[in-house]
Amino acid sequence: MKMSKRLESLQPYLFVEIGRKIAEKKAKGEEVISFGIGDPDIPTPSHILKRLCQAAQDPANHRYPESAGLPELRKTIAEWYKKRFDVSLDADREVLPLVGSKEGVAHIAWCFIDPGDIALVPDPAYPVYSVGTMLAGGEPYYMPLAAENDFLPNLDTIPAHVLEKAKLLWINYPNNPTGAVADIDFFNRVVKFAQQHDLAVCHDAPYSEVVFDSYQPVSFLQAEGAKEVGIEFHSLSKSYNLTGWRIGMAVGNAEMIDALRRVKSNLDSGVPQAIQYAAIEALTGPQDCIQEHNAIYQRRRDLVVDMLNSIGLEAKPPKASLYVWAKVPQGYTSVEFTNDLLEKVGVVVTPGTGYGSSGEGYIRVSLTIPDAGLVKGLSRLAGWRSTKKIAW
Ligand SMILES: Cc1ncc(COP(=O)(O)O)c(C=O)c1O
Repeated sequence: MKMSKRLESLQPYLFVEIGRKIAEKKAKGEEVISFGIGDPDIPTPSHILKRLCQAAQDPANHRYPESAGLPELRKTIAEWYKKRFDVSLDADREVLPLVGSKEGVAHIAWCFIDPGDIALVPDPAYPVYSVGTMLAGGEPYYMPLAAENDFLPNLDTIPAHVLEKAKLLWINYPNNPTGAVADIDFFNRVVKFAQQHDLAVCHDAPYSEVVFDSYQPVSFLQAEGAKEVGIEFHSLSKSYNLTGWRIGMAVGNAEMIDALRRVKSNLDSGVPQAIQYAAIEALTGPQDCIQEHNAIYQRRRDLVVDMLNSIGLEAKPPKASLYVWAKVPQGYTSVEFTNDLLEKVGVVVTPGTGYGSSGEGYIRVSLTIPDAGLVKGLSRLAGWRSTKKIAW
């Protein structure tokens, strides 16, 4: 068998590796508490599940869906964007349902990237931006996200020869893994930069509804001229605990949406219709579940941040997202500290370097752990002690 060179360039997906380590420990009879993946532990709200089950019973939903999605879902998404962000969208030309946003995030590269082209990708970042680019034969150029710049990329430092080959610019706020947020001034700057350098912007925004302390993120599409240069990816996974059902959307620039629809219609057959009806229910039904979930995450966030600081890590409470981004204690690399936690106290966190080399010195702690596990995990963390000798 001769596999493709493309496949050789693919590292195992970050959480597959972490899952393997957890399985090894469990096989030895050890209990592991995981703050790893950002997968909501709270079940899908019952009114959404009820609609899903009802729609699953209808034979009309047993057949191939249209790649473009149900017109009623596209209309619902457009209305939600208007209500939530005051952004007007043409439901037929500027909205595309996705089989979870990961799928669209990966496939958009096929619309823009030819071998030798560049995509500008934040570092650290959700790995799919660079993997999608590489699978299409392109090259990611990494834009470091540093604490001193509030984890925003410094666009002015990107060299001219990179910009000449760059076609796509990725941004993601509220950010995974840093938990950082961006305001409208940043998005306005991104639009200008994209216009100057003929870039298509992809803003990935699955955490815009996972917010704390009354913080309200803005949409990239609220920036002046954003729809002329870019699209926003969105997901129902994190806000409505629908990760297992796979539904997200891309919205914005009609040409980009049309290109993505063309690629997708050749590769997948759309989102199962029962799930599309569940998504309509999620976006139009009672919204109290979002506040309820956010209150739970906020309480967990505060407990996690306090505990991490008390054992010598530096962590600030994020305003949004499902993650606490914390500096590892002196003397450790991200991977060393992650392994040390697993070995000494049986707690799993994600090393910052799993999201790119600028994640060195950090770990990501996910808040999607049930309360009983959280309490146990925190008490284990309290018992962690550094065994590193610090040279002063
Ligand atoms: C930044 C970011 N984008 C996209 C996704 C994918 O979400 P989904 O495919 O469930 O919509 C995730 C999931 O963790 C994410 O963290």
